[in-house]
Amino acid sequence: MIMKSANLLSILVSALLLAGCGADTRSETTPSGAAPTAAEAPAAEVRPIAITGNDQMKFSVTEIRAKPGEALSVTLNNIGTMPKVAMGHNWVLLKAGVDPASFNNDAVSAAATDYVPESQRQNIIAATKLLGPKESDTVTFNAPTEPGRYVFLCSFPGHFQVGMKGELIVE
Ligand code: CO
Repeated sequence: MIMKSANLLSILVSALLLAGCGADTRSETTPSGAAPTAAEAPAAEVRPIAITGNDQMKFSVTEIRAKPGEALSVTLNNIGTMPKVAMGHNWVLLKAGVDPASFNNDAVSAAATDYVPESQRQNIIAATKLLGPKESDTVTFNAPTEPGRYVFLCSFPGHFQVGMKGELIVE
């Protein structure tokens, strides 16, 4: 039994090594176009964006501009004092073509999943947790590669309607 397990392990390791070789080959492909310049930022750099939400149901940032595919790290901080059950906030970024009003309608009945409905999960690029007073959460993601305007919102019931929303503008 022990020998069999060892053989199986060595087969698995070989398979992993082969898979790794395949990935290396793909990464050698060089993009066409201009050569990189010294001014270009490293690809791994993530740009932090700080946003607050308050008891007046407003985000401090309603417009984010990003390059296609740019790595972003959004931190939402709930600076209000009202209890989470009455005044929770999240930050939800929707994919292109998703109707925010329709998303929001579904969210009203999704309290069990912090107002992010399972039926709409495939329509989300990124989302923070639902935050009570003085709580914060960070979500890291890549901006869409397709230029355009992408809606973000707080999906706590009623907040989108009073303007707790904004846009990620990819250009
Ligand atoms: Co809110």
